Amino acid sequence: MKINRICCIGAGYVGGPTMSVIAQKNPEIRVDVVDLNEQRIADWNDQDLTKLPIYEPGLDGVVAEARGRNLFFSTEVDDAIEKADMIFISVNTPTKTYGTGKGMAADLKYVELCARQIARVAKDDKIVVEKSTLPVRTAEAIKSILDNTGNGVNFQILSNPEFLAEGTAIDDLLSPDRVLIGGEQSEEGQAAINALASVYGAWVPEDRILTTNLWSSELSKLTANAYLAQRVSSINALSELCEATGADVDEVAKAIGMDSRIGPKFLKASVGFGGSCFQKDILNLVYISKSLGLDAVADYWEQVIIMNNHQRARFAKKIITTLYNTVSGKKITFLGWAFKKDTNDSRESAAIYVADMLMDERAEIAVYDPKVSSRQMLEDLNYLNTRSESENEELMDTHNEPYGATDGAHAVAILTEWDEFKDLDWERIYKGMQKPAFVFDGRNIMDSQRMRDIGFIFQGIGKPS
Ligand code: NAD
Ligand code: UGA
Repeated sequence: MKINRICCIGAGYVGGPTMSVIAQKNPEIRVDVVDLNEQRIADWNDQDLTKLPIYEPGLDGVVAEARGRNLFFSTEVDDAIEKADMIFISVNTPTKTYGTGKGMAADLKYVELCARQIARVAKDDKIVVEKSTLPVRTAEAIKSILDNTGNGVNFQILSNPEFLAEGTAIDDLLSPDRVLIGGEQSEEGQAAINALASVYGAWVPEDRILTTNLWSSELSKLTANAYLAQRVSSINALSELCEATGADVDEVAKAIGMDSRIGPKFLKASVGFGGSCFQKDILNLVYISKSLGLDAVADYWEQVIIMNNHQRARFAKKIITTLYNTVSGKKITFLGWAFKKDTNDSRESAAIYVADMLMDERAEIAVYDPKVSSRQMLEDLNYLNTRSESENEELMDTHNEPYGATDGAHAVAILTEWDEFKDLDWERIYKGMQKPAFVFDGRNIMDSQRMRDIGFIFQGIGKPS
């Protein structure tokens, strides 16, 4: 089966970069990325590539090469579905905020809407690919909707979860550790798997394309995120132990990471993991386990989230206690708001929660982040619903350069590991701050000795003070 046209529903952090690379590497396939959000599509079509809706190193070059050639962004969802041989569903699957499973289960309403729309519009056979992260056995529900409300056409459902990380999305897409494709164990299912494998085969070596049954593929995605997040929570748990004992968490991480069975990656202690997926996917795993009566399994994974919440709260508390138990009316500057470096994404960023806790204590927060807009920062805080929007505006001040942000501050807290923070003029920052001047490095990016030599009272995570 040869694929000539692809449609991707959802032009977000996954749909946009993934389809850009598929189009770049398959110039003979037309790729239409569609979304209901008109502004997002307008931004994807902006001639000024700095205005793309997603900041991702290298993305602009890929879009420049493929857009208008065989890559198109539009809001014409029906038209793109109708003409495509293969349709990717890449819409958001946030944690439910209402009803059964509130705060735990994935909200599948956007996915279901896509399935219904495909069923309504499709006039010939289609391969439907789950690119969104979905609970195990969702393909069954999608298939049921497609088969029962469709126009008598045949649908093959594939699961093709995405493993890219933000900030390195283009590199991850260009040389993935693996591409996972799950499909029905039948002749038609195998043909669909082969069709998708050939799209990736344009640049991914064959031995990195792994095929499984549908349920293994769906579950592997949740599991991969749970394992990664578990490593962060494990090292963060140890960071507290390090602070209590005089051990250095980076030294411990290096020592254990050199064991090839453990490996060196994902052992960086931090103020806590953020991002749109780790928490959501683990909660989903916990919810599925609980629904199946597997309480011990659910409790095991839930602990990863409990530890992460603790790490954020512990960081905020440390700032408060170090500043003589009160931050009321004190200016505390955040360097970084994004959930990690090299992205403009702040979903579930630790910075939001730390700011919220400090604002509860009436601290005045000043923020500088190289890529997150001030509008987004305020929206993030307002979303928590802790206080009124005007109170949030009053207590938070945003800056577009670091020196104004730190001027007159009692403390600086590093919330994101942006490279540029290491090269700031820290002597200048020190001069502009109240004394004693405190720095809390929530990412362990600064050289503690150098900072202390400048005069700062400096504390890292899991580091001797
Ligand atoms: P996102 O919110 O950035 O993008 C989703 C887009 O889908 C939005 O632009 C929204 O307007 C659009 N949309 C929703 N319903 C629609 C509909 N019915 N028709 C057309 N457009 C619709 O989300 P994202 O970060 O790209 O994540 C998408 C999925 O991929 C999620 O399931 C997520 O768990 C998974 N995932 C995300 C990442 C990541 O790094 N962000 C990585 C791997 C997997
Ligand atoms: C993560 C996974 O790495 C991707 O494979 C997956 O596709 C994606 O989730 C998803 O499903 O959305 P992402 O959240 O973009 O990617 O970024 P990560 O690099 O995994 O970082 C997640 C969070 O953990 C960040 O806040 C980061 O700062 C933190 N982290 C990561 C640490 O605190 N320490 C580490 O050692 C690693």
